Amino acid sequence: MRNLIDILDLSVEEIDELISVANDIIADPVKYSESCKGKILATLFFEPSTRTRLSFEAAMLNLGGSVLGFSEAGSSSTAKGESVADTIRTVNCYADIIAMRHPKEGAPIVASKASHIPIINAGDGGHFHPTQTLTDLLTISRHKGRLNDLTIGLCGDLKFGRTVHSLIAAFARYSGIKFVLISPEELRVPEYVKTETLDKKGIPYREVKTLEEAMPELDILYMTRIQRERFADPAEYERLKNSFVLDLEKLEHAKKDLCIMHPLPRVNEISTKVDSDPRACYFDQALCGKYIRMALILKLLAETPVPCSLDEHEEELVNKVFCDNPRCITSVEQEIDHIFHYTDKENGVCRCAYCEAQTKI
Ligand code: NCD
Repeated sequence: MRNLIDILDLSVEEIDELISVANDIIADPVKYSESCKGKILATLFFEPSTRTRLSFEAAMLNLGGSVLGFSEAGSSSTAKGESVADTIRTVNCYADIIAMRHPKEGAPIVASKASHIPIINAGDGGHFHPTQTLTDLLTISRHKGRLNDLTIGLCGDLKFGRTVHSLIAAFARYSGIKFVLISPEELRVPEYVKTETLDKKGIPYREVKTLEEAMPELDILYMTRIQRERFADPAEYERLKNSFVLDLEKLEHAKKDLCIMHPLPRVNEISTKVDSDPRACYFDQALCGKYIRMALILKLLAETPVPCSLDEHEEELVNKVFCDNPRCITSVEQEIDHIFHYTDKENGVCRCAYCEAQTKI
């Protein structure tokens, strides 16, 4: 690789290495303060962000580099109808590395095909968020001292929660992991995550509807926000928005060394009273985000870019099947080829190469 689109673009060894560099940066930040002198990071945020964008920018500044970019699509030429590919080609003239967030799933893949400099996916729709996962892994390794033998509760919007999708993919490669998936029926983990990751890797998981039934067994509780912006029907959001609220009472049944995490922003799903509980790790998690992104920028800038692997896929179907996911980048950019890969060729089952929506031909 030399882009980071999906957390699986990094091997477990590479993730270990990033965590170890991040820990070294935490121990001796001065050592790294000029490591990216003369380099420029572009942060292209077509969707709102606080932590991800600012931690990327702080990361590059702490490495002695510079940053440029935009924080909303409306202030870029996207508002005039420019394509992702053209924006990326242009930014290639001004920067050495790009971190981008886009509301459409698969947009970073389109970007990586148009780019000669590394593309980092800082979140694509409800799909993936690999650098949040790196942040989460660093936080867990610092708090628990291990990344295996953990029972992990994922709570909230598991359908559209891109942080959750990337975290499951990452933990599927460690041993002794069990998941408890806590969500309303309507916001369960997408089928492709279950079949392609959990079932395929034989990872034990159960789906429950309340926090109470999961709490006593958890080592990690990963809370997420019900995401208003991903709902097609506002009435459904209103009905589900208060599904889970973590408070001190519910924590009475939790382990003494539980690690409570949240990618943030929170709306109301964690009571502010929990913030002073020693088990609350979410603001430390935000800090870890800066250090692991420093390690990632260092790594990607040190490597030679290679073309995106999409073109190398053996069984691709080009413009033979059309993606009907309204959140896919192909739904807004007419010139992008619709590319599908078979997941079960015998039965004609295939997935969109951009957003992973499944279909049958
Ligand atoms: C998350 C995201 O953007 O997916 N936040 C983050 O990156 N820290 C979660 C969310 O927006 O709810």
